[in-house]
Amino acid sequence: MLVNGESYQSIWYDRDNGKVTVIDQRKLPFNFNTIQLHTIEDVFWSIKEMVVRGAPLIGVTAAYGLYLAIKCNRNVITPDFLTKSANYLKSARPTAVNLEKIIDEIILKLINNISHKNIESIAFNLAQQIELKEIDNCSKIGDFGLSIIDNLYKQNSKRTINILTHCNAGWLASVDWGMALSPIYKAFEKGIKVHVWVDETRPRNQGARLTAWELQKAGVPHTVIPDNTGGHLMQQGMVDMVIVGSDRTTKNGDVANKIGTYLKALAAYDNSIPFYVALPLSSIDFNMVDGVKNIPIEKRDDDEIRIMECMIDNEIKDALIMPKNTNVANYGFDVTPARLISALITEKGVCKANENSISKLFS
Ligand code: MRU
Repeated sequence: MLVNGESYQSIWYDRDNGKVTVIDQRKLPFNFNTIQLHTIEDVFWSIKEMVVRGAPLIGVTAAYGLYLAIKCNRNVITPDFLTKSANYLKSARPTAVNLEKIIDEIILKLINNISHKNIESIAFNLAQQIELKEIDNCSKIGDFGLSIIDNLYKQNSKRTINILTHCNAGWLASVDWGMALSPIYKAFEKGIKVHVWVDETRPRNQGARLTAWELQKAGVPHTVIPDNTGGHLMQQGMVDMVIVGSDRTTKNGDVANKIGTYLKALAAYDNSIPFYVALPLSSIDFNMVDGVKNIPIEKRDDDEIRIMECMIDNEIKDALIMPKNTNVANYGFDVTPARLISALITEKGVCKANENSISKLFS
């Protein structure tokens, strides 16, 4: 996508200097910085500290992490080394399934090619393939989602369609296009009138900081709202549809997404507003049912709740927003049960959030 007229991805391999490069998402929207990742430790750190975040992007970054592990340790590539590297990367964050799925997929291929003299370029090519596949998937999600928005637009005599989204499931969270935002970008490009309600998404404010930044750069009309506003807007007829992303979807269609998604799904259900989840196949955990019971929910540092980062006098500063040392609870994600989801929008098409429909789509 374009940033000040220049085309960017959230991660790329810079052929000029041979470096894996990412946008430092911790600094947005205040500063636009890029960081080079040189080692597997850099990759682990970038995922853990949320320099990169969002399920598909975490997966692609980990794929480059395995390549960098091999590149930096050419003489010690054994199955044990690869397995340790894989487990190390997997431990960076627990909820997004893309991380473990992509690592497992790559490790299998690397172990099968362990004695190949070009193992480094095999690892590099695998990372590149995964990067390109995620871009293609997100573009297709956009095409399928676009027809849903287009139908709604036509049914409503071409008035502006109001779409609510939570967190950031845009191009920053994938490699390009995004999941929830991809249909919106495609609708906007096609001339459909859209307006996006952006949940600020406490505690880290990925909505206010990242989604608002993305939409502003693309020129898509939007309004940031405090997380508690969505229910009221829905009751007042000010939301036509909700689209969110997913960090892990079970095979029966339960969806783990950023904390607060479940409450939006309940409000949408109560107001008969369609609630869509946009996700690539790489976010589906085919080994898991019953997301509420089984999806591991990340708990993050308490200070993410107590302290907010603000731009003050042209400097990013921390602001304490409650009594020091107050007890807080910082759950990163919640699970929206399949029964509250109108449909899943995937790269293979749109399906119901249940095992039968999902397996038909992917069989
Ligand atoms: O903690 P994050 O920022 O990595 O969380 C991921 C998200 O941004 C959301 O849950 C998003 O809606 C899904 S990302 C595919």
